[in-house]
Amino acid sequence: MSFDRTIKIAPSILAADFANFGAECAAVEAQGADWIHVDVMDGHFVPNITFGPATCAAIRPHIKGVMDVHLMISPVDAYIEDFARAGADVITAHVEAGPHIHRTLQAIRASGAKAGVALNPGTPADSVADLLDLTDLVCVMTVNPGFGGQKFIDMTNKIKALRAMIGDRPVHIEIDGGVDPTTAPVVAQAGADVLVAGSAVFRGGSVDDPAPYGENIRAIRAAAEGTYV
Ligand code: DX5
Ligand code: ZN
Repeated sequence: MSFDRTIKIAPSILAADFANFGAECAAVEAQGADWIHVDVMDGHFVPNITFGPATCAAIRPHIKGVMDVHLMISPVDAYIEDFARAGADVITAHVEAGPHIHRTLQAIRASGAKAGVALNPGTPADSVADLLDLTDLVCVMTVNPGFGGQKFIDMTNKIKALRAMIGDRPVHIEIDGGVDPTTAPVVAQAGADVLVAGSAVFRGGSVDDPAPYGENIRAIRAAAEGTYV
């Protein structure tokens, strides 16, 4: 996985057909997705349950590019190896998930995956200030995690603060929640490069009719890149 700050669109399969993840991943990749974002929820850290490492492993062969696994679970550390073995390229843990995020990030890197750290809307940018050399990605939540299709919460000041804090380090800024062609330019201008989008990518399409996925991805990318279409 090479590093750059170009805009990357990461469809969240939380908005895909749960009975057909493999085909959904292949369809959005064929339609221009850069990364595939995989939301793992435990019904404890967040009030919703999705799936675990076995499902990630089953999806993996259907993804050619980056599998970006977002862990909304607590505790985290005992499961890191399982998600790494499942083929995650990026494993992101929440700073709020436990008292030892530093140890968690060390463990993620030791597993061979890139290490991401996510911040809930109520968590300040400063909470990751001492973690940036251990981190490959900072995920700024623009909704309270747990569900797709929620209203975007403006985190512009936090994104700008993180962008300044990161400086020249090869650390991605990812935005997760409520990203669509209206909100994408706001976060891109503030310094984000990875845009997660669930409902705004999967709406209107299906594996049998994937063209809308491509239109949706292109609309978000064009808006983020400042070329409104
Ligand atoms: C929320 C998840 C998001 C979610 C985004 O807890 O982490 O990845 O799927 O969905 P949309 O784009 O619909 O807000
Ligand atoms: Zn997510």
